[in-house]
Amino acid sequence: MSMRKTLIIASLLLPTQHLLFSQLANAQQSRFGEPATQKDIDKSFWSVFPDGEFLPEGEGNVATGRVLFKEQCNICHNMPGESDPVKDDIGKLFGVTDKKGKPNVEQTIGSYWPYSSTVFNYIRRAMPLLAPMSLTNSDYYSLTAYLLHENGVIPEDAVMNKDTLPKVEMPNKDGFIMAYPKVPEQYEVKR
Ligand code: HEC
Repeated sequence: MSMRKTLIIASLLLPTQHLLFSQLANAQQSRFGEPATQKDIDKSFWSVFPDGEFLPEGEGNVATGRVLFKEQCNICHNMPGESDPVKDDIGKLFGVTDKKGKPNVEQTIGSYWPYSSTVFNYIRRAMPLLAPMSLTNSDYYSLTAYLLHENGVIPEDAVMNKDTLPKVEMPNKDGFIMAYPKVPEQYEVKR
């Protein structure tokens, strides 16, 4: 039997525990990358919560949002009044403003989304599809304002920022059922 084959067979027969320990030891000694600092962690923490917590500074309005939407989003999503079927398939963002009393209506921002702040969170995190987070926070406020306005939620002259946006109530805010029961008071996290 060649030396190579002997080694392979010997390694197969080694107890797996032994292999696991040596792998762990290697992992601890790894010199790849650097430990994340608090600054790194803060930089990558940009989720906005439904109550508006962690919304950034900046401000936007409907008119600016309309221009941005045409430039940045219209290649994939229809503007209000347009009906390209491919773009409607990608994501229909306008057209149904309220689903109260109308079962099985199409889901758009006005008829489905329960929170206004998470519209901002979603589009900043994910859009434009090929360059998410490439716009400024104020641009994302403007796009959110435009989407909310064209969904019949806020007036044309509304200004959106970290104070005004969480106060916007969505038409479908009561359309969801909480999957988990309320946390008993003694277990609630105090902030
Ligand atoms: C290159 C194509 C593309 C571009 C450009 C684009 N989107 Fe999208 N968008 C998508 C796709 C694809 C989805 C569906 C993603 C999914 O379901 O996971 C989507 C989904 C969305 C949704 C969620 C719709 C819903 O109710 O579920 C919103 C809101 C949205 N886009 C807004 C925007 C905005 C605002 C812009 C411009 C800043 C933009 N998109 C640019 C392709 C695009």
